[in-house]
Amino acid sequence: MVVNGIIIVLAYLIGSIPSGLIVGKVFHGIDIRQHGSGNLGGTNTFRTLGVKAGLIVTIADILKGTLAVLLPLLFGSELHPLIVGIFAVVGHMYPLFAGFKGGKAVATSGGVLLGYAYPMFIIIFLAFFVCLYLTKYVSLSSILAGIVAVIYSLVIGDIPLIIVVSILAFFVIYRHRANIKRIINKTEPKIKWL
Ligand code: G3P
Repeated sequence: MVVNGIIIVLAYLIGSIPSGLIVGKVFHGIDIRQHGSGNLGGTNTFRTLGVKAGLIVTIADILKGTLAVLLPLLFGSELHPLIVGIFAVVGHMYPLFAGFKGGKAVATSGGVLLGYAYPMFIIIFLAFFVCLYLTKYVSLSSILAGIVAVIYSLVIGDIPLIIVVSILAFFVIYRHRANIKRIINKTEPKIKWL
């Protein structure tokens, strides 16, 4: 019981590590939340600080989710890894170490799926890139990836996976409210490098 509580708190704290804030402040002396979309995530880091910083932040944010789902195994706990993963995503969205203003749940949710069911991660990653190639919208591609994840989990038919993936997809869509409005208004920025 105590171990399970420690795992959940640890998952939240891992998710709370603000990779975008650290890379921005330590290597470039800026808070990326005051630039671009204001989001503390990989996309805004790409946009504000370039490819190298964007890649580092995206990979770090993915690894937070992957590490979290491995915690039950590391601690010898029977806690479901996907439940633990949710707490890492909550940490990423509402980070203790960054005034509870974090990212939009995409990369860390991806990391949860990478750690729990990597074939699913590959399918979702492909769906994300096909959408990005066709539309040039990262936000729309992120939302589509969430929807594809829910459909995939329904096809697999694993109940915990369906529930957790639906929660993660809800987080992703909810956190993209402003992006959805901008897509409708045609003011959402498109990426230029693909
Ligand atoms: O992962 C976040 C992405 O989907 C959108 O980011 O900065 O364009 O709001 P941003």
